[in-house]
Amino acid sequence: MNKTISRLINYIEVTQPINIKSHIYRSCKVGDFLSKLHNTDLNKVKIALLGHDLYRAYSNKDLLQKANQKNIYISEIEKHSPILLHGKLASMKMKNYFQINDPEILHSIKWHTSGHKYMSAVFKVVFLSDKIDPEKIKNNTSLNPIKIKACKNLDQAMLMYLNYNIKLRIKNNELIHPYSIQARNSIQKDMETIN
Ligand SMILES: [Fe+2]
Ligand SMILES: [Fe+2]
Repeated sequence: MNKTISRLINYIEVTQPINIKSHIYRSCKVGDFLSKLHNTDLNKVKIALLGHDLYRAYSNKDLLQKANQKNIYISEIEKHSPILLHGKLASMKMKNYFQINDPEILHSIKWHTSGHKYMSAVFKVVFLSDKIDPEKIKNNTSLNPIKIKACKNLDQAMLMYLNYNIKLRIKNNELIHPYSIQARNSIQKDMETIN
């Protein structure tokens, strides 16, 4: 096994609570499946998914404290919902502790919660594999059509998820991450150019 992957697994085994650990491994399985289907870099997807939620178990208070300590920029929406910082912290950990320098992996981890206006195929597979974890689908069947779409077309699945998530946030009177709107617009625009 790739040395980075085994280092990451050892780290996850000793640091992560069972729910996060299981989610990470399930998302890796989905990532493996989607990578093979869409011919994306399997190794990059696996490393990004192993690293994406390393700070997911942190409390809001600890996330803010850690981000301040690491001099990470905290945006307005992150101040309001500190959970959004877990991708930024994970990407920094992957760079500094696991010596991952691949910008595609780091970017996919950093923005896996919101999406981003620049998203490679690896990014899209990482993003969707996190969202269509089979346990998440079990608890929320609205995600099932997104899973079906993800097997056929990554862009359409991304658009479907972002639209779903934005609409849900409006319905629940919640804030929308500005990067989710940017991600949605960039995919929508790309699809208009193709058609
Ligand atoms: Fe996450
Ligand atoms: Fe996740």
